[in-house]
Amino acid sequence: MGCEQVRLFFNPLLISFFFLFLCQFTCLHAQLCTQQQTSALMQFKRNFSFSESSSLYCDASFPKMKSWKKGSDCCSWDGVDCNKKTGQVIGLDLSCNGLQGTIHPNSSLFFSFPHLRNLNLSHNNFSMSPISPEFTHFTELTHLDLSYCGFSGKVPLEFSFLNKLVSLDLSANYDLRLEVGGFELLIQNLSKLRDLDLSDVNVSSSVVPNSLLNLTSLRTLCLRFSSLHGNFPSGVFHLPHLQKLDIWGTKALNRRHRKHQWLLKMVEDVENRNGQRLKRNARRYGGGRN
Ligand SMILES: *[C@@H]1O[C@H](CO)[C@@H](O)[C@H](O)[C@H]1NC(C)=O
Ligand SMILES: *[C@@H]1O[C@H](CO)[C@@H](O)[C@H](O)[C@H]1NC(C)=O
Ligand SMILES: *[C@@H]1O[C@H](CO)[C@@H](O)[C@H](O)[C@H]1NC(C)=O
Ligand SMILES: *[C@@H]1O[C@H](CO)[C@@H](O)[C@H](O)[C@H]1NC(C)=O
Ligand SMILES: *[C@@H]1O[C@H](CO)[C@@H](O)[C@H](O)[C@H]1NC(C)=O
Ligand SMILES: *[C@@H]1O[C@H](CO)[C@@H](O)[C@H](O)[C@H]1NC(C)=O
Ligand SMILES: *[C@@H]1O[C@H](CO)[C@@H](O)[C@H](O)[C@H]1NC(C)=O
Repeated sequence: MGCEQVRLFFNPLLISFFFLFLCQFTCLHAQLCTQQQTSALMQFKRNFSFSESSSLYCDASFPKMKSWKKGSDCCSWDGVDCNKKTGQVIGLDLSCNGLQGTIHPNSSLFFSFPHLRNLNLSHNNFSMSPISPEFTHFTELTHLDLSYCGFSGKVPLEFSFLNKLVSLDLSANYDLRLEVGGFELLIQNLSKLRDLDLSDVNVSSSVVPNSLLNLTSLRTLCLRFSSLHGNFPSGVFHLPHLQKLDIWGTKALNRRHRKHQWLLKMVEDVENRNGQRLKRNARRYGGGRN
């Protein structure tokens, strides 16, 4: 090795570049998730037991939370999505985790993730507990999926504060209901909604004419077996982006809609596809509708 090459090798500038390069993969990455977020997630995990029967209809995949280990960066955990620059958790996909237990209103989950945009808790078993109004701490939420969660009781009216929601799914919680007037409140404030699914939720409301027409971004609206009644406003059929409307099993579906052949056809398709699923769910939750 000539002198020139040796000097090049020990060039301080080159050496710092070398460490900067290493850091890209180690230093920065290891520090991405804050301690507070990590411990909030670990505490959340500890409050549940795991049971395959809580997530019966999921692919038999490895529950994501099993990979959550103390001492590792939470931004690298399965189901956790972080802002790559700030390290703030912006997405939690805890669906199909076999969770069995309840989410305590005091849960650090509600207080540690103010930047959360996507939250998916679907297909777990929250033991017929009520949905906590504390969900409204997630003021940045755009996607909330609480379907197949075994929640019961009233949907907190405070959900209408989550006015950035683009997608809301509360379906298949068989003992869940909206307070009287709750449906109107929800759709008044959640004007950005593209996908709304309240199937099996007792909406116990008549449709206020034209109330749905404000949801001009609506793409899918599912209200199967939601106890919705009254005259479903035909204007909904003309919402510019609507691709799927499912009001099967509600008293709002009436003869007036027979002229909307595409609706009835679609409803039939969905009915055939979901027939089996509905039967299974009815068995799973030890009851169902008859
Ligand atoms: C939530 O997770 C379930 C199961 O993994 C998935 O089917 C569903 O599409 C997810 N919901 C959203 C809003 O992404
Ligand atoms: C919630 O936490 C606060 C203090 O952190 C405590 O005073 C209160 O008793 C807790 N509530 C429940 C129901 O555990
Ligand atoms: C765990 O449950 C206890 C009450 O049983 C509650 O005080 C605590 O906030 C919960 N922690 C999390 C992170 O959910
Ligand atoms: C869900 O949890 C409740 C209460 O803990 C339990 O009785 C029920 O059997 C569970 N359901 C399933 C499908 O595991
Ligand atoms: C709509 O949301 C705003 C905050 O974004 C809130 O102040 C207002 O009370 C909400 N209205 C209803 C009817 O929930
Ligand atoms: C829905 O709730 C209303 C009252 O809130 C009740 O009268 C009705 O029986 C419920 N419907 C179903 C199907 O549970
Ligand atoms: C529709 O939106 C407008 C403007 O935001 C509001 O004044 C009106 O009350 C809404 N209509 C219904 C039926 O919610």
